[in-house]
Amino acid sequence: MTFSSFSDMGFAIIDISELQHISKIREAIVNHLASQFSLTNCDPEHFLNNFHINASIHDDVAANAMILDLIRGISGNYDFSTSIYESITPYLDELIGPDVMSQKNNNIVYQYPGSNRFSELHTDYPTNSEFEVVSWVPLVNCFGSKSFYLVPLSDSIDLVSRFKDRQYASWDDYKASCLSKAVHVEVNYSQCILFWTGLIHGSLINETNESRWFLNARYKSLFAPFGQHDPLTYYKPLRYSALTRIALSSK
Ligand SMILES: [Fe+2]
Repeated sequence: MTFSSFSDMGFAIIDISELQHISKIREAIVNHLASQFSLTNCDPEHFLNNFHINASIHDDVAANAMILDLIRGISGNYDFSTSIYESITPYLDELIGPDVMSQKNNNIVYQYPGSNRFSELHTDYPTNSEFEVVSWVPLVNCFGSKSFYLVPLSDSIDLVSRFKDRQYASWDDYKASCLSKAVHVEVNYSQCILFWTGLIHGSLINETNESRWFLNARYKSLFAPFGQHDPLTYYKPLRYSALTRIALSSK
């Protein structure tokens, strides 16, 4: 799959060219968790994959508390939207241009094997803008039910339109139709998935024996319409073009 597939499929899996921005965050996550759970700090991939075993995370209350503490612990030093942006700038430049707004808050998706807290299928638009792109950055290699699924562009548009026309007898019916068209993405650490907010997507119960770890962030042009989120609390300006800087300074 190449980046040109974004136009046809609504998503692309890309190789991260400036991985150091992501590896610094991954290292900070491992260091924080090793310290909080008194664990030996080892190879990040191995540490994160087996974290549920070594830290005894076997219920969603413990998982949630761990993630909240982790985000609090590293957010003073790391801004995920900026780091992800810097790791894949040419791709985001091509999609949204040089004037960029991003999601404000740091977000980590964690799911230990067997957790029922999977992401039910949905689209991010219209809660998010239809002029917005989502980045998913895995911190471990993800495959099968440890990963996510996406429904390609034309199928997503068709399925959402049929759903609005009440052509499905039940949610289960609709979900079965979506899953029959879904692509279960295989994505490794050092890669990133970029996808349009209108794509149907979700995850399954993680039935592998490894933990799922993803960062995510969303980006739109500074001048593109917002979705339904409160713009002041959800987004922040990330980058201005030279022209926009001049225009803003002249006010
Ligand atoms: Fe989503």
